[in-house]
Amino acid sequence: MNLKSYLFILLISALISCSKDKTNTCTIIPSYDVEISSIINSYCIVCHQSGNAAGGINLENENFVEQHIDQIISEIETQSMPQYGSPAPTDAERDSIIIILNCWLDNVVR
Ligand code: HEC
Repeated sequence: MNLKSYLFILLISALISCSKDKTNTCTIIPSYDVEISSIINSYCIVCHQSGNAAGGINLENENFVEQHIDQIISEIETQSMPQYGSPAPTDAERDSIIIILNCWLDNVVR
């Protein structure tokens, strides 16, 4: 397991407890370099990078992720992505991921 995956799992575990009530309170302000890229690298990048941008969606840098952030959130929420058959977050992890992405969108991107 690389450092990023390890940090990501730590982060997810820390946030699971606060994700249960779905109130979407930001307990941290996520950054692209730590939380957001870890999420994308864990679940999305294999199919969404240059040379292999499924559906024309490349998620390999901050700028690209920002451009697609609304779509990214809705694809994960509806469980359309990660694509069926690839490693996917558990329900609790997905709740945390949605909170983290929304916190980043509201506090950093906007
Ligand atoms: C196993 C490969 C694979 C993985 C992993 C994957 N995707 Fe995709 N993704 C695809 C393919 C293939 C398409 C194009 C076909 C489609 O829309 O289903 C796509 C399309 C998309 C689209 C465009 C949807 C649309 O309606 O145009 C978005 C946004 C997206 N993916 C986001 C993500 C995110 C976010 C993750 C990680 C949580 C992810 N994908 C993980 C294969 C993958």
